[in-house]
Formats: sequence, structure tokens, C-alpha cells
Amino acid sequence: MKLDQTLANAITAAGQADLLRFWDTLTEEQQSAFASQLAGVNWQEMPRLIAEYVLQRPKTEIPADLGPAPYFPLKPRNAEEKALYDRARARGAELLRAGKVSCLTVAGGQGTRLGFDGPKGTYPIGPVSGRPLFEYFAESIRRIGAKYGRPLRWYLMTSLLNRAATEEFFRKNSFFGLDPEQVFFFTQGTMPAVGYDGKLLLASKSSLSLSPDGHGGTLLALRKSGALDRMTEDGVEYLSYFQVDNPLVPVADPLFIGLHDLEKSEMSAIMLAKTNPYEKLGNFCVSGGHVSIIEYSDLPAELAERRNADGSLAFIAGSPAIHMISREFVARLTAGGSLKLPWHRADKKIPCIDADGNPVHPTEPNGVKLESFIFDAMPLAERTMVLEGDRKSVFAPTKNPTGVDSVESCRAMLIDRDARRLEAAGVKVPRRADGVVDAKIEVSPLAVADDEDMIDFVRTRGLKEIAPGAELVLD
Ligand code: UTP
Repeated sequence: MKLDQTLANAITAAGQADLLRFWDTLTEEQQSAFASQLAGVNWQEMPRLIAEYVLQRPKTEIPADLGPAPYFPLKPRNAEEKALYDRARARGAELLRAGKVSCLTVAGGQGTRLGFDGPKGTYPIGPVSGRPLFEYFAESIRRIGAKYGRPLRWYLMTSLLNRAATEEFFRKNSFFGLDPEQVFFFTQGTMPAVGYDGKLLLASKSSLSLSPDGHGGTLLALRKSGALDRMTEDGVEYLSYFQVDNPLVPVADPLFIGLHDLEKSEMSAIMLAKTNPYEKLGNFCVSGGHVSIIEYSDLPAELAERRNADGSLAFIAGSPAIHMISREFVARLTAGGSLKLPWHRADKKIPCIDADGNPVHPTEPNGVKLESFIFDAMPLAERTMVLEGDRKSVFAPTKNPTGVDSVESCRAMLIDRDARRLEAAGVKVPRRADGVVDAKIEVSPLAVADDEDMIDFVRTRGLKEIAPGAELVLD
């Protein structure tokens, strides 16, 4: 077949005619699949993106008035703030009871650092049972639904590369007890990978090298997939957003939901107090009255190291990627069927084919993947809200197999969180001299979603003490 002439012209005008060098050698079936892939690329935009992000290293402009973003502290500072937090908790609970909140998990990433074969959400993270990441969230969502008397819908973003495997995993596991209707899978967009010479890379003679377009792709994908319409039909106003690799996250926290609502925020965020100036978390900043997140690598050292009079970091607020997002905000941003967020460049080793069609498996980065980030939507919001979270209770990212932000550190944090809840409920938990829990404990998220649940749980089970060295799943 012949490639549609308008499309062929657009590709040529974008300086990418080379992509079609094998066209005449392809079968009709390959040509047709390739043509639909090519039709999905924004050829008008591509030359600008390549010039700005590939052929040069984009520089993040740091505005002269950049300051640290204001936030609500973990503990209220005065009686007035305490009253606000109490009202917010009650409001959050009311919104959950009224079915106004859904959960949103981004699970479209490639999880390259973890090096695990399969979607990251299928990783067996449970410290004792090996329950997968997806199961943690599914059971937490079931528990919150039962607690507030309204099942929550779960929007789960996948990529073209892992959608089928993700859905299959849910089917195989009977949706972890969720009603299949409760889970709304949707697929994010893709971006072509570009070689350092500015030419798009081919994965094969009949296929571009495509990768997921970053978690910023969530917003447009919510519209394109019909998720926004579904939320409107359901009367859902807010999305509780978290990442697939953080099983410690409260999937729907009444205080966070309630403050988001009371503050009339369009996009809110949890912040954590950074442990050092260069901790690898995005920094909450403010400029011209708009809150933004600046990547750790882009914040100048002078600002990263700046201290307040009491010695604390001036730019203390780091982002663990936990948000509340209003449906109407997403609808407004994506109203024209498109959304312009800045792109971020990632230099990667990208398998591809060479000029003659031979496979190349680079050992050094050979090109650029472009991703957009969800937090870049924050400056576009008319109102935002940032709330401090307790790191030990909300953030255990599973990025690497070992070391920092790893499977090991995540499991240790899950055990420690459950131990603290047990202790707060009056159970004696064995700890070593250095304070580390001397047992492997895993409390089912289906039974316990918060400290209050644990008190009931301990009472009904008559739990008094955990034996040193025990390995226990409590459910
Ligand atoms: P990361 O940026 O940590 O990427 O994603 P990753 O894919 O999990 O891991 P690496 O960098 O390849 O090792 C943070 C979160 O955003 C999601 C991921 O699934 C994870 O929940 N994400 C990332 C998407 O949903 N889509 C993307 O295109 C990128």
C-alpha cells in the first residue's frame, strides 16, 4: 500500500523521511500497523521539540522571585489551625461517604531501575506474604470503601506496553476482591524516542521506538479514555493520586481530601521535610503567586542550601508525588483535547535498528526520551494547597532492588508502620537495641487502613504481644 500522501508530506516536512526507508520491503499488514503508528505522532510539533530538547540541553529558568512554597504543617500550629484540621477531617469523611472521591494510580512506567519482568504493580512487595503492590492498593481501597459505606472507583493508568499484562494480572487474581466494574483501566500516550542526531529511532523496520509520555500524560489520558465522563456520571469530584511503587501511601486520606476541598484547591500536594539539601525529591517553590515543583537537579545549590534563621532548610518541602486533583481542573486543562505541559529530557540506552536495519543494543545512552510530569500542572491551577505528611507513614518508594528507595527499604518501612500502629493500640512489639522491629509483621490492608482501625483490630483479635523473631501476616 501507499502511505497517505498528507502524512508522508508531514513526515518529510519534519525532516524524518528516513523513517520510511524500509517501507517498500514491508508486508501490507506491517505497512498498515506502521501507518497508524506514524499517524499518532504530532509531526508539526516534532522539529521544535527536537531542537529544544534533543539538539540542546534545555535549561530550567529559575525566576528571580523564586521562594519556598507555603504549606500546612504536619501538626497544627495553633488552636485556629487545629480547628481547621478537625473540620477538614470531618469534611473529607463526608466526601468519602457521599462517593465524591476516586483513586488514581499511575502505573504506566517502565520500572527500569527495579529490573523486574512485568508491570511494576505485580511486584510481590508484602514483607511476609509477598502480596503484590496492586493488592496493597486494591485492599486498601476496599477497606476505605467499607469504612465510609461507599465503594470507591479506582482509575488505573497503564501504558501501551503493560496494559494487557496488567489487566490479565487483575483477572487472574479476581480483581483482589474488588468488583471489576470498580476498576477503570486506561492507557497513557506515547512519545517517539529521538537519537542524538535529531532523527527518530526505529525499533524495527516497521515500528517507531515509542515510550510512555510520562505521568504528565495522565491528565489528557483521563479525558481521551472517557474517565472524566465516567467521573461526571458518578458525581465524583476529586481524584486521590498516587504512584504504583508506594504501598505505604494512604489511598484516600480524609484530612488531605477535606483540606483540598475547604481550601477550594484545584490541585493539592503532600510535602515531606527534606533530610538534606540534595535529597532527590522535587522542591515545592512559589513564583508570581503560583506554586510549582522544581526538580532536585534543577534547583541551584545556593537555593538548595539556603537556611532559615533557626538552621532549617529554606526550601524544605520535597514532593513524594501524592496529590488531590479536582475533576473540573482536569476538564478545564484538557478542554480542547490537548494539553501543553513542558517536556523533560531523559538520556537513555534505547534499543533500535541502524541505517541498514541491523539491531543495535547500546551500552551507552544513544538518545532521548521525552516525558511530561504531572506536577507541572500545579502552576496552571488557580488555587493549590500543600500539606506536610509524615514520611514514615506515607512514603516508601520501590525504585531499586536494594539500597535507597528499594524493595528492602520499602518492606522495612511497611513493617515499621504496622509495628507503630500495633504499639499505639497497646500491643507489645519486640524491637532490637537500635529500635528496629525484631519480627516480620504484615497487617492486611483489608483489615486496617488507619490507626483507628488498628485499635478495633487488636481488640477483636485480643492481640497483646508479638514474639521476637516472629513472621506473621495479621488479617
Ligand atoms: P518513575 O519516574 O519512578 O519511573 O515513575 P518508573 O517507570 O516507575 O521507574 P524507572 O525510572 O524506569 O526505574 C513514577 C511513577 O509514575 C508512573 C510509574 O508507573 C510510577 O508509578 N509513570 C511513569 C507512568 O505512569 N507513566 C510514565 O510514563 C512514567
